[in-house]
Amino acid sequence: MGIVMDHLFSQALQNYIINATSPEGSLLENLRKETAAVIGMANMLTGPVEGKLLHFLVKLMHATYCLELGTFTGYSALNIASALPIDGKLITCEVNQTHADFAQKYFDRSPHGHKIEIKMGEATNTISSLNDNIDFIFIDADKANYPVYYDLLIPKLRSGGLMVVDNALWGGEVIQPLDSRSQAIHSLNMKAHGDARVETVMLSVRDGMMLIRKV
Ligand SMILES: C[S@@+](CC[C@H](N)C(=O)[O-])C[C@H]1O[C@@H](n2cnc3c(N)ncnc32)[C@H](O)[C@@H]1O
Repeated sequence: MGIVMDHLFSQALQNYIINATSPEGSLLENLRKETAAVIGMANMLTGPVEGKLLHFLVKLMHATYCLELGTFTGYSALNIASALPIDGKLITCEVNQTHADFAQKYFDRSPHGHKIEIKMGEATNTISSLNDNIDFIFIDADKANYPVYYDLLIPKLRSGGLMVVDNALWGGEVIQPLDSRSQAIHSLNMKAHGDARVETVMLSVRDGMMLIRKV
């Protein structure tokens, strides 16, 4: 999401990082601009650097079966889907119909859109209906449920699979977690760090990304 990311990097440094990263392409640029103009809250979408990193990770691990919690307007979903083979699959969970309709419009314009299926409703309900052996999971929905998502999804991740958790630093508030969202994010971070089933690396990309690999 990245609502509070500006505390972590100056605007000049953010621009430098973006300019050193391969361009997002015109479809994603249009999606980002139309999100800002029509939906608002455009700082919720991952953006050019984190989006490209998701794309890299999915491509590098040759993932074919991916899950996302929190579609919003489809920016991260398209970054993930474009790294999948032609028969790859991304299931993305969303509660808000306006967000889902916007995202679907862009999926229909993309040569990778056929790989993406939006599942409407609470992510916890969708998770229980999913097959096991997921290769790659991106968690970017409601923060209060982060520890719940972790507990439900680690058993569904294949051995060697990767879970990426967005907003893992929450603008730095995880150091002194005072509200329920920062407490939930900190709880997930510590839960994963102490879990013998996984190994972790915390990245200070954007608002923080916790990478969790199932051993
Ligand atoms: C931060 S945005 C996702 C941004 C998106 N991953 C991107 O980078 O473009 C979070 C989204 O999660 C959705 N959401 C919130 N709570 C949810 C829940 N319980 N189940 C499914 N989706 C949820 C919101 O409606 C919102 O669209």
